[in-house]
Amino acid sequence: MYYKTSLLILVLNVFFLLFVIGGFFGAIWVPTRKKDYKRIDALMDLRPGTILYDLGSGSADLLFYLSKKYNIKCVGIEISPILYLYSKIKSLFYKNVEIKLGSFLWHDLKSADIIYVFLLPRIYDKLKNKIKNNTKENIKIILAVWPFENIKPSKISADNKNMNYYFYYKRDLP
Ligand SMILES: C[S@@+](CC[C@H](N)C(=O)[O-])C[C@H]1O[C@@H](n2cnc3c(N)ncnc32)[C@H](O)[C@@H]1O
Repeated sequence: MYYKTSLLILVLNVFFLLFVIGGFFGAIWVPTRKKDYKRIDALMDLRPGTILYDLGSGSADLLFYLSKKYNIKCVGIEISPILYLYSKIKSLFYKNVEIKLGSFLWHDLKSADIIYVFLLPRIYDKLKNKIKNNTKENIKIILAVWPFENIKPSKISADNKNMNYYFYYKRDLP
């Protein structure tokens, strides 16, 4: 009985750390589909020296993939301690990937050239404010699945299952 209760508490804690925290702040953890990496890559048009951020990086697999492919610096910011720990440990094997703990709203984004965001639209107002006040003027933004309301993206990578990616320049934002 004691062991069963301990196990249940452990499982609930893991569930909380993995999903509830992220869900509360911006989105639960649903990783970007690996089969979409090439489309996202094409949309980003990465060059040497580019610094890419993933706001809510989850397991950070997209960053590991792109950092290795282009030898560019990538920064992931993740609020779930379990996903942070997992990706932080993995980043020890990728010299160009840095993983930070916490909400992206608490971190400095001034060095980012491109940010990738796969979060729920309910955080977009805060995201737009953050972009306005704490990023480079020429930063590029890629949103997964949900576009900014009433803002026309500069580019879209669409498929027939609504797994779309939307590309904006900061200047596109009002
Ligand atoms: C939909 S998943 C996307 C994961 C990753 N970007 C990918 O594409 O595979 C959203 C992630 O963002 C994290 N998250 C939610 N709100 C956040 C916030 N305000 N700051 C940082 N991370 C956040 C969640 O814990 C979750 O891992």
